[in-house]
Amino acid sequence: MRDVVIIGIGQTPVGEHWEKSLRHLAYGAIRAAMLDAGIEVVDALYVGNMLSGQLAGQEHLGALIADFAGLRGIEAMKVEAACGSGAAALRVGTMAVASGMHEVVLACGVEKMTDTSGDVTTSALATAADQEYEVSQGISFVGLNALLMRRYMYEYGVSHKAFAGFTVNAHRNGANNPNAMFQNPVSESSYLRAGMICDPINLMDSSPVCDGAACVVLAPADRFRGRAKALVLASAVATDSVAIHDRRDPLSLDAVAISSQKAYAEARVMPGDIHLFEVHDAFSIMSALSLEAAGFAARGTGVRMAEEGEIAIGGRLPISTMGGLKARGHPVGATGVYQVVEVVQQLTGSAGANQVKGATLGMAQNIGGSGATVITHILGAV
Ligand code: COA
Repeated sequence: MRDVVIIGIGQTPVGEHWEKSLRHLAYGAIRAAMLDAGIEVVDALYVGNMLSGQLAGQEHLGALIADFAGLRGIEAMKVEAACGSGAAALRVGTMAVASGMHEVVLACGVEKMTDTSGDVTTSALATAADQEYEVSQGISFVGLNALLMRRYMYEYGVSHKAFAGFTVNAHRNGANNPNAMFQNPVSESSYLRAGMICDPINLMDSSPVCDGAACVVLAPADRFRGRAKALVLASAVATDSVAIHDRRDPLSLDAVAISSQKAYAEARVMPGDIHLFEVHDAFSIMSALSLEAAGFAARGTGVRMAEEGEIAIGGRLPISTMGGLKARGHPVGATGVYQVVEVVQQLTGSAGANQVKGATLGMAQNIGGSGATVITHILGAV
C-alpha cells in the first residue's frame, strides 16, 4: 500500500442554500479544492451523499457531478453510509490511491436538506435507522438520541446542564468560522432556556438541518509529498447493529471503539497523542459517548470533559474546533469531508482565531446512524 496525502481542500459555507442545487454546491467545493491543489485533471471522483434520492429525486450523483464539474469521462460514483457518507467517500478515495489504482482522486461530500418541509426531511433522515424495529414505532433520529441521553443521565446521575459545555464550545468556535451556519456564541443560560425538541434534547443539543459541500484532493505521497497539506495516517471503518436495542450496551458505542482503535494502530499513535478531535456531535449525547468510546474519557465521564473546559481550544483535547456539527452545521452526507477539511486547516496553521497551537496530529470521526457505521481518519502535519 502507498502512503496517501491531501493536496487540496475546498468547502462552501454551510447554510440554507435555496438558490443552489446539489450540483452547484458540489461544483463550488470541487473547484475550490482543485484550485487549492493546483490541478486540472483527476482520475476519479467519489461523492458522499445520503439524501439526494429522497429529497431531490436525484440519484446517480457520480456522473451528474463529474459532468457538471467539467470532468466528464472520469470514474465517478456515489458512496452512501447515512450521515457517515462523506467520510465513506474519503475512505474509498484513500483506498483507490493507496492501492495504486488511481493517482489523483477527489472525495466530495454534498447534501441539500432544506428544500423540503421538516417532516419530509425528518422521515428521510430516519431511513438510516432500522425501519422494521425502530422507525415503524414512529421514532425519529432526534427521538433515538433522546432515549440515549435520558439513559445516560439516569445511569450516571448527570443533569441536563452538564451537557451545556459541548454547545457553548461548538458555538464559540463556530463564531470564528466564516463557513459555519451559526456564528453566534451561546451562553449556558441560553442553552438551558432553549425550546425542547424531544425531551431531554432541546434545540441547543441538536445539529441543524442545512446544505453544504466540501471536497479534498487525494494523491500518493511518493509523487506529491512536496505539495502535500497533510498526511493520511489512518483510515478505519467499523460497524455495529443499526438498531440500538440490538446492542450489547446502548451506552457503549462499540463501533466507535473499534474504528478508533484500528485508526490508532494504523497511525501508530495513542489517544493521548491526538491534538484535536473533530467529533460527530450531531447531538450533545453523541459527543459524550464518542469521547468515552474513543478512549479520551472513562465510561460515564465524557460530559466532565465539557464541564471542565478540556474540549476548548487550548484545552487538553479541543473538539469541534470550527464549530462542529452543532454550529458549523451537519449537511449529513457532506459532514465527514468538512471535518477532514477542518483538520487540514488546523494542521496547516490556517484555522484563524480557532487555531490549536502546535497541532500536528488531528482526528476526524464521522458516524452513520446512531453509531452503526463509524469512520475515523487520523491526519498528520507534513
Ligand atoms: N441550533 C440552534 N438553532 C437552530 C437549530 C439548531 N440546531 N435549528 C434551527 N435553529 C434556529 C433557526 O436558525 C431559526 O432561528 P431564527 O428563528 O432566529 O431564524 C429557528 O431555530 C427555527 O428554525 P427552523 O429551521 O424552523 O427549525 P425547526 O424547528 O424546523 O428544526 C430541528 C429544528 C432541531 C428540529 C431540526 O434542525 C432537526 O431536525 N435537527 C436534527 C437533524 C438530524 O436529525 N440530523 C441527523 C443527525 S444524525
